[in-house]
Amino acid sequence: MDTITTLVKSIFYSEYISILEISYLLASVLFILGLKKLSHPDTARSGNLWAAAGMGLAILCTMLFHRTKLEDGTYEGIHNIGFIIAALIFGTSVGWFAARKVKMTAMPQMVSLFNGMGGACAALISLMEFPRMQTLLAVQQHSNMLNGEALAILLGLMIGGVSFAGSMIAFGKLDERIGDIRSPVLRYINLGFLVILLAFVVFILFQAPVAGEHWMIYVLAALALIYGVTFVMPIGGADMPVVISLLNSFTGVAAAMGGFLYSNQAMLTGGILVGSSGTILTILMCKAMNRSLLNVIIGAFGGSASASISTGDKTVKEISLSDVAILLSYSKKVLIVPGYGLAVAQAQHLCHELDDLLASKGVELKYGIHPVAGRMPGHMNVLLAEADVPYEKLLEMEDANKEMSSTDAVIVVGANDVVNPAAEDDPSSPIAGMPVIQVWNARNVIVMKRSMAKGYAAIENNLFFHPKTRMLFGDAKSTLQKLVSEIKNL
Ligand code: TAP
Repeated sequence: MDTITTLVKSIFYSEYISILEISYLLASVLFILGLKKLSHPDTARSGNLWAAAGMGLAILCTMLFHRTKLEDGTYEGIHNIGFIIAALIFGTSVGWFAARKVKMTAMPQMVSLFNGMGGACAALISLMEFPRMQTLLAVQQHSNMLNGEALAILLGLMIGGVSFAGSMIAFGKLDERIGDIRSPVLRYINLGFLVILLAFVVFILFQAPVAGEHWMIYVLAALALIYGVTFVMPIGGADMPVVISLLNSFTGVAAAMGGFLYSNQAMLTGGILVGSSGTILTILMCKAMNRSLLNVIIGAFGGSASASISTGDKTVKEISLSDVAILLSYSKKVLIVPGYGLAVAQAQHLCHELDDLLASKGVELKYGIHPVAGRMPGHMNVLLAEADVPYEKLLEMEDANKEMSSTDAVIVVGANDVVNPAAEDDPSSPIAGMPVIQVWNARNVIVMKRSMAKGYAAIENNLFFHPKTRMLFGDAKSTLQKLVSEIKNL
């Protein structure tokens, strides 16, 4: 009878394992398909749902089918199901309400916050698993902790901790609660911390495991958190996009460490996908800023007060709404260059309305999209997709620049840094070398913004004094509203 019971249990056990592994494989496929769909605005929404379904499936199947083999040969399922369900309900509710309530302009901060939570989860896993592993190795009388499991635990804590602390600082910066601390000394302190952090990981690996002595893991956690803060603190201004995407990839790598640790394919695939897409994004952002990653991290620069231009005898020319209406109506080719101000004003629907109106008059209108316009990767694409602007109308920066000389009028809607000529003609500017949309090569430039205020990089913009530029001051939404009615009345 006992043999039969054992046999039945082991069959069940292997079935559970198969079901669990198949569900992880399925979850991984859903992640990959979801990511693929995320690459186009038309399918992005469903891509998000597919990936979320993958995550839901992995969680549910883990709760139902995960089994641990006990010393007496029996199997047991997961404990604390009540706590897990309560945590799921709590996390889902907070995420749901935060996402519903968040203003479109605060989306980048929220993404940073959520990214930090991912890093914190990975770090917490390591904090919990290290004592278990240490005790096991101590019982087995190992002379050191040099093994793959320990390395995954330590790297998970280090990278997850840096990602959590760094994302919190990035959140504070994007929310304008924290300023940049720029000091050449900080870059050496930073490098010093990084060396100490890595050396400490190696130090732990070579220690003899002592059951119950866990101080090392807490010191490593503290070092990772401090490094996360000092790493992001000096980077600011126009270089923030690179840091944000880098932190994104850190979270993915830290989660992948958890996947290694638990031999969990879903976690591993999910982590690797986030880590690799974050790395690709970091490379793209570096390219967009024309910076090397090392330059951004070590250089620790961004907008600086020293970069100023004299506005002395330069004059700003304004233009009236009716003149803009006439200019646009009689143009053949118009380009809108949106920036962060478009998100603040929530003027994307009006851009589309203007676009339709001008199209009815035979004007060809397109949008020139800078890769770091706004405050998060793809910010302008998301906004314009929300307003149903056809994706084909969106030109990437290089293509927009090629078409500039044949463009009759450019309307800069709430953009500043991404159209700043200082990037090309002022080597002392903090944004020197960053590719920008060369709107000044068009025949006419209309800049819509509320004042002469600076952009995110906190530097002056000579475009506003350019002979071809005329300023149309005011909130982008109300200005566009009036412009649309002005054109209708022509
Ligand atoms: P910014 O240079 O930040 O300029 C935005 C401009 O919009 C401001 O000068 C502001 O001038 C104007 N504005 C604000 N509210 C407005 C409203 N209601 N109506 C009309 N105008 C309004 O934006 P950008 O050109 O898009 O450049 C993005 C910057 O953010 C870059 O430096 C980039 O590196 C940085 N950054 C980007 C990211 C990502 S991933 N995209 C992340 C972090 C930082 P007024 O106040 O005078 O209106």
